[in-house]
Amino acid sequence: MNERLIIFDTTLRDGEQSPGASMTRDEKVRIAKALERMRVDVIEAGFPIASAGDFEAVHAVAEAVRDSTVCGLARALPRDIERAAEALKPARSGRIHTFIATSPIHMQHKLRMRPEEVVERAVAAVKQARRYVDDVEFSPEDAGRSEIDFLCRVLEAVIAAGARTVNIPDTVGYSLPGPFGALIKTLIERVPNSDKAVFSVHCHNDLGLAVGNSLSAVLNGARQVECTINGLGERAGNAALEEIVMAVRTRQDQFPCEVGLDTTQILHCSRLVSNITGFPVQPNKAIVGANAFAHESGIHQDGVLKSRETYEIMRAEDVGWHANRMVLGKHSGRNAFKTRLRELGAELAREEDLNEAFLRFKDLADKKHEIYDEDLQALVTETNLATRNESAKFISLKVCSETGETPSAQVTLWFAGGERPGAAAGSGPVDAAFRAIESVVQSQANLQLYSVNAITTGSDAQGEVTVRLERGGRIVNGHGADTDILAASAKAYMNAVNKLFCDAPREHPQSGDAL
Ligand code: KIV
Ligand code: ZN
Repeated sequence: MNERLIIFDTTLRDGEQSPGASMTRDEKVRIAKALERMRVDVIEAGFPIASAGDFEAVHAVAEAVRDSTVCGLARALPRDIERAAEALKPARSGRIHTFIATSPIHMQHKLRMRPEEVVERAVAAVKQARRYVDDVEFSPEDAGRSEIDFLCRVLEAVIAAGARTVNIPDTVGYSLPGPFGALIKTLIERVPNSDKAVFSVHCHNDLGLAVGNSLSAVLNGARQVECTINGLGERAGNAALEEIVMAVRTRQDQFPCEVGLDTTQILHCSRLVSNITGFPVQPNKAIVGANAFAHESGIHQDGVLKSRETYEIMRAEDVGWHANRMVLGKHSGRNAFKTRLRELGAELAREEDLNEAFLRFKDLADKKHEIYDEDLQALVTETNLATRNESAKFISLKVCSETGETPSAQVTLWFAGGERPGAAAGSGPVDAAFRAIESVVQSQANLQLYSVNAITTGSDAQGEVTVRLERGGRIVNGHGADTDILAASAKAYMNAVNKLFCDAPREHPQSGDAL
C-alpha cells in the first residue's frame, strides 16, 4: 500500500487572512463541516489569540468536527499557546501549530532576535504545546529564504522537543519547484531525527508556483501539504487544495503516496467558500472553474464523444460536477427543504432561522422555478446574514434607469435604530443605488471591487454580488444574492458596511507586533 499524503486545509486561517475574506463563526463551522465531509485530514480553524471572535470560531469548529483533526495557530509565545489549547479543548483530535521566523531578514527586521534566541523560543513553544496536546506542529516561517544549516538546527531541536510535524513554509512565494524539492530532500537527509516527524510544506503563490512547489516537495519526501480551497490566501494565495489532490490522484504513476479525500465533494466546497467569502472563481480555474470540463471547441467535442480519454484526463463527476440538477421546486415542502439542507451540511441550528430560510425559499421558488444546490447555499448565507444582529439592514430599493436619462435610486434602510430613506442619482443604476445608501450610512468608504456572478445558468438565475470597501486601510468584502441584481448589489454593499462598522479589530499572526 502507498503511503498517505496528509491534506492540511488552512482555508479558515491563512485563507481568511486574504483582505476582506473574514468569516463569522457560523460560516467557519459550515465550511469546516464540508471539509470534514470531504475527509480532509487536518483543518486549521484559525488563530485563537487574534480576537474573542477568532477564539470562539476555533472552539466552535473543535466542537462541531469529529472526524478530522482540528488545528489552532499560535506564535511561539506562551499566551498564544495557552489560548490555542483552550480553544481546542472540545476537539476529539486537536493539534497546536506554533511558528517563529528563521530567515535572516525576518529575524533581523521583524523579530529583532538573534538566531540562538529563535531556537530557544521555538523549543520552549513546542514543549509548552506538548503539555496540552500530543499532536504539535512547528513551522520555521520564511523557511524558503532561511539558511539551510540554521534550518537543520532548528528542526532537529523542535523534533527533539516533541514536534510531530515540521512544516516548511515558502511564506513569500519565492521558491522554484526544483530547488524547493531539493531543499525538502536535503532537510530529510540532514536532520538526524527527521524520521520522528512528518515533513510538511506550505507554499504561497506569489510567482504562481505554489502547487508546483508543493508537488515537487511531495516527490522529494514531504507527506503533508498545507493548502486552501480555491487557493484562497494572503496576496496571491496559497496552494489550491483541489489542484494538489487531483494532481496526486491523476498522476499516481508519479507519486509514491495517495490522498484519502472524497474528491466528489471538491466542487461543493469550492462553491461554498466562494459564496461565503465573496471571492469568485475564475472560469478557467483548474478543476473548479466553470470552463474546466467544458469541451467547447468542435474538434475537442468530437474527440471526447468518440473516446473520453482523447481530451479528458479526469472525470468531471469525480470532482463533483454533474449537469445542473433541479433539487427542489415551488411545491417542495418544509421537510424536503430541511432534508436537502442537512444533506448539503448547511443546516440551520435555530428553528426560527429555518422558518425564515423556508419563507425565502418559497419567495425564490415563485421567481425561479428550478432551485439548485447552489441556490440553497446562497439562501442559507443570506438567512445567516439577515438573522445576525446587524446595525444596518437593507429593506427596499427603487431604481429608475432609462436610455439617455440620469439613473436615480431610492432606498429604505434600517439604520441607527429606525427606518431611514435615502436617494441619489448616479452614473449608472448600481452607482445610484450605492450613492443612495451612502446618503444614509455615510461610511465614506472607497469602493475597491464590484463583481456579479450568476449562481446557476439561465436568465432567471440569482446574481451573486461581491462588493469590496476600504476605509482607513481596512478592507472588507460584502456579498448579497437575489434574482434582482440591483437588490443583490444593495445587499452586498450593506453587508460590507456592517463589517466596516461592527467587526472588531484582530491581530495578524505574522505582523511581528507582539514579539
Ligand atoms: O506563510 C506562512 O509562513 C504561514 C505560517 C504561519 C505557517 O502561514
Ligand atoms: Zn501562509
